[in-house]
Order: sequence, then structure tokens, then C-alpha cells
Amino acid sequence: MPDPRALLAALILIAGPGMADTAPSGAEAARLERMVIQDCGSCHGLTLKGGLGPDIRAATLAGTEPESLAAIILDGVPGTAMPPWRPLISEEDARWIAEYLLATPAQ
Ligand code: HEC
Repeated sequence: MPDPRALLAALILIAGPGMADTAPSGAEAARLERMVIQDCGSCHGLTLKGGLGPDIRAATLAGTEPESLAAIILDGVPGTAMPPWRPLISEEDARWIAEYLLATPAQ
């Protein structure tokens, strides 16, 4: 009978770092993607190239740290129309959206 701790360690190694963290994936990622297009798109434009809110396409945001984008998404920009999303999404979700915005080329 192999040591169960060794088995567990092997399992974690095989599964890789993605297994233990809480990064959204699958259905949750699809929900967030819809939210970006529908909710963020209502101000930033359906293609995110700007409307009431500024252009937030990848090319425009390039060079911005994902952490600072996630902070804006979570807490909004006080004194502007950009609302805080903290009541609706987790910090992992905000981070996912920030990475999504930075990684998704203009459609
Ligand atoms: C009610 C309108 C509105 C909605 C909805 C909205 N935003 Fe904004 N957003 C704004 C405005 C206005 C600004 C500009 C704030 C300023 O003047 O700095 C902004 C700024 C931003 C910025 C900073 C851009 C930059 O270059 O500094 C990011 C990133 C952003 N929004 C992402 C999002 C995301 C992601 C969502 C959806 C979860 C979203 N916004 C939903 C109005 C909105």
C-alpha cells in the first residue's frame, strides 16, 4: 500500500497549479464573459471601444497591470459613471475580467 501522502502529492503535481486555486473556469468564465459584453458593454460599447466609458480594448489597455484594472473593476472610479462591481463579483472574478480584457483582441 503506497503512502497516501505521496499519492496526494503526486495528484497535486499532475493536476498542476490550476487545481487548488479558485480562478473561474468553465461556466463561471462564460458568465463573466457575458457580463463583460452585456454589462460593461452598455457603457464601454459592445466591442468595448468606448461609449459613455472609455475604450477598454486590449490594445488600449496594453501595459496596464492586471491588478490595477481589477481594482478599478472592483471599486469603480469614484465621481464618475464607472460603478464598483464588488457587490456582484469576487476578487478572482475581477482579476479574470482584467486578464480577459488584456488578452482579448478587438473583434
Ligand atoms: C455605467 C457605466 C459603466 C459601466 C456599466 C462600466 N463602466 Fe467602466 N468606466 C465607466 C466610465 C465613465 C469610466 C471612466 C472613469 C474615469 O473617468 O476615469 C470607466 C473606466 C473603466 C476602466 C478604466 C479605463 C482606463 O483606461 O483607465 C476600466 C478598466 C473599466 N471601466 C472596466 C469596466 C468593466 C470591466 C466593466 C464591467 C464589469 C465596466 N467598466 C462597466 C463607465 C462604466
